[in-house]
Amino acid sequence: MPQVVVLPHEELCPEGAVFEAEAGVTVCDAALANGVEIEHACEKSCACTTCHVVVREGFDSMEEADELEEDLLDKAWGLEPESRLSCQSLIGDKDLVVEIPKYTLNQVSEKH
Ligand code: FES
Repeated sequence: MPQVVVLPHEELCPEGAVFEAEAGVTVCDAALANGVEIEHACEKSCACTTCHVVVREGFDSMEEADELEEDLLDKAWGLEPESRLSCQSLIGDKDLVVEIPKYTLNQVSEKH
């Protein structure tokens, strides 16, 4: 089974996390199942950007984002070329290293 490394995030997993996940499961579901509470404000229906992650390793092993995901990602805080919405990205057959950005748009709008 592919291994998923979640890099440390101040609030969600200060120590980072490492777990195994089955291919075909979304990054979001796998993280939630392993105690990393990635935000998922739209309940994983590809209608928000709170589940945004940056895939630091293994990006190419996942299926490409569809148009809807890309459009939403454009609005995400801290967008990078290897950004994905974790509720839409299925784990492939390779290990992944995932970073959860410091903020989501929800948090940014709450703070400003
Ligand atoms: S939880 Fe809203 S797009 Fe993923």
